[in-house]
Amino acid sequence: MGYFGANRAAWTFLVIVYTSVNAAAGDHTLIADLGLDILPDKAKINISLEEYTSAISTFLKSKDDTFEPTPKLKIYKLGKPIQQKLSKGIVKMVFPIPTSSDEVESAALRLLLPPQHEDPQVVTIRVTQILSTRRRRFLYEDTIYLSKHSSKWCELDVTQAVASWMRGQRNLGLELLCVGCRNNLNANVAAITTLTYASHRRVKRSTDCSARHLTGKGRKEKCCRHEMRVTFAKLGYKEMRDIVEPKIYEAGYCQGLCPPNYNFATNHSRIQGLIHQLGKRDAKLLRSETALVPKTCCAPSKLGDLQILMVDSKDPSKLRVETWENMRVLECACS
Ligand SMILES: *[C@@H]1O[C@H](CO)[C@@H](O)[C@H](O)[C@H]1NC(C)=O
Ligand SMILES: *[C@@H]1O[C@H](CO)[C@@H](O)[C@H](O)[C@H]1NC(C)=O
Repeated sequence: MGYFGANRAAWTFLVIVYTSVNAAAGDHTLIADLGLDILPDKAKINISLEEYTSAISTFLKSKDDTFEPTPKLKIYKLGKPIQQKLSKGIVKMVFPIPTSSDEVESAALRLLLPPQHEDPQVVTIRVTQILSTRRRRFLYEDTIYLSKHSSKWCELDVTQAVASWMRGQRNLGLELLCVGCRNNLNANVAAITTLTYASHRRVKRSTDCSARHLTGKGRKEKCCRHEMRVTFAKLGYKEMRDIVEPKIYEAGYCQGLCPPNYNFATNHSRIQGLIHQLGKRDAKLLRSETALVPKTCCAPSKLGDLQILMVDSKDPSKLRVETWENMRVLECACS
């Protein structure tokens, strides 16, 4: 009981932190700015294991990404029958996930929840990782919208637990606590789906920063593309958590010095660089304070799109692919 109480306090604290970060991020226009104005109604989302598996397999097959290796999909069914204690709303499940040196991008527990004829249809499910007889680690909590008439699929994030089992932590399973559920789970179709990478995941491109971009004096880097990994869920917008894949992507950014005549983006930048130099020389000669034309800046010169897999807002039982334009830097230049 003591542990439960401490855990609840930690969770409340997290919620407060999350909500304030969320508020700081401002209104909910990010998704619209990126070109998606209709979002699926969360209460209606019903993505079956089959739909997820087939959509994500197609998505990953067609993915042509020179920055990130494509993750591999694996599906794990229950290892042994689950134990349900309906009176307490507690379910224990063990999935046979082997140890591995792979890196987990994401892992989700997919459940088919039975219909709930009487109120409430809105329930709260919390999933924890069983660490020992008494200890639990909080993983995820969500509001789930059940249906009055038919079963419905839900998805719970269990990435942390799967990552720890793959690293070799003893797999004692997961514990689900459902506040308000009145029927037992359809446990025979429960599954954990994982997306993993082989451990050496980085793909370096020739345009990325490397030793050849270092200038002699002070060894400061010249303008080049740096890595910037973006985790959608951490951006502070709740809707971003609805992106099915990718959860993380390599966006890149540009930074570095722009010495004269170096990697100019346009003919204009070449000229601006010259004018800057001339101005500097004149200022030295005349000891004048005249405003200098600035140096050229290191900036994106070529951008690329990002394909994302999301729930179809028109049919919340299907996934669809969207393209967000100019979501990442491919090349940098001085402009
Ligand atoms: C959810 O999907 C399952 C299987 O795809 C289907 O049998 C069920 O009727 C759906 N439930 C709702 C509420 O649409
Ligand atoms: C500079 O102008 C020439 C002639 O129009 C063009 O061929 C060349 O691509 C331009 N260079 C850059 C970097 O824009």
